[in-house]
Amino acid sequence: MRKLEQAPHGLHGELAVPGDKSISHRALMLGAVATGTTTIEHWLTGEDCQHTLQALRDVGVPIERKGTMVTVHGKGDAGNFVAPATSLAMGNSGTTTRLLMGLLSGTSFTSKLVGDDSLERRPMQRVTQPLAELGVKIDLTAAGTLPAQVHGGPVHGGTVRLNVASAQVKSAVFLAGLNAPTPTVVVEKLPTRDHTEIMLRQFGADITTSADQRTITLQPQPHLTGQTVVVPGDLSSAAFFLVAATIVPQSGVKLTNVNLNPTRTGILRVLDQMGADVTIEPIPTTGELWGNLVVHSSQLRPIHLTAPDIPAVIDELPLVALLAATADGTSTIRGAAELRVKETDRIAVLKTELEKLGVAVTEYSDGLAITGRPAWDVQNSELDSHGDHRIGMMLAIAALRSHTPLTLQNEEAVAVSYPQFFTDLEQLREDH
Ligand code: S3P
Repeated sequence: MRKLEQAPHGLHGELAVPGDKSISHRALMLGAVATGTTTIEHWLTGEDCQHTLQALRDVGVPIERKGTMVTVHGKGDAGNFVAPATSLAMGNSGTTTRLLMGLLSGTSFTSKLVGDDSLERRPMQRVTQPLAELGVKIDLTAAGTLPAQVHGGPVHGGTVRLNVASAQVKSAVFLAGLNAPTPTVVVEKLPTRDHTEIMLRQFGADITTSADQRTITLQPQPHLTGQTVVVPGDLSSAAFFLVAATIVPQSGVKLTNVNLNPTRTGILRVLDQMGADVTIEPIPTTGELWGNLVVHSSQLRPIHLTAPDIPAVIDELPLVALLAATADGTSTIRGAAELRVKETDRIAVLKTELEKLGVAVTEYSDGLAITGRPAWDVQNSELDSHGDHRIGMMLAIAALRSHTPLTLQNEEAVAVSYPQFFTDLEQLREDH
């Protein structure tokens, strides 16, 4: 259990958050199937990415790591991977699992994928069904969950229509399609994060996106060549401090070198609509967009999000709920049933934890209504991450503006995506 700190004088100073989780996973995987060496700088050392790194080592990919600097000696093709001696451990990481289901389909052996309790409850048919359309064979439990057996073998191209808005599923299809002799086309319900497409292009693939962003076409059997990938800061990690500096009076924080891919910046649009004070300083780049973000505290108004808003803010919805808990009025988040199948059922967990703070929350099958109040009336000071990294960090941010001392159970979950979260938070609390 951790005693959470308040921030009576606000948060202050400048911070470079750790590397983007989505990009760190993808750089390892594309490096593994490229020809030659891939160097990854500012790689995220969080547990989820460590699981991707170890799983790739387990199938024979030589990878060296010194802190946040990683070197991948590419095998040129998943067909050159070697059968692992044991099951591949996915830990808590949905991204490792789903993307590897695509990548490992190109091998010549069967891999067994296992996860922790939370991951072994999450739905996997959303990946195995689209992959089956390309000829990939994956066995799941009767409940459609891990453990999985991924049977490597021939893969063909085709057009796959996805019925969940999921970048993980889209990416799995393209990673499988790398070995197909004909084009692989994905049609999405709503546009989702496009890091896989951007990085595939950087490594030499021909992959194009339609004007409405919903149809993406990968030309067959690209020649991928090892690259230097400099990973930008993770906006999903920066978001904790954007929200903290917004809701804790007297704050002023600058977050540097953050990824600003438009498929991820829903939280910036939410902050803007709620009346937050965030300035974006773009940094010239090619490929992924980068920038610095400067934020000062503000009073907020409520917000209403619906299905089309959700993919670009999916991982930040716990923070949107916290913003709503401080705004003057009732906010709604709808069309977000995906929250129920994240690391926890985030709809249920958000209701439980925000009610402890005395905030009125209504639960819907696909979202929440939250009525904010400027000063909370804490009912239960023992908060709990429920083993979910993003819930744990959101609650630590909530505690900064609580007048009642709060504690956090299961705080170690933050290491999944942000191992030095509490140290960085402490730096901004003291920096004044
Ligand atoms: C991710 C996609 C998202 C996100 C997850 C990372 C990715 O999941 O929630 O944290 O790296 O592709 P879905 O695409 O399944 O929504």
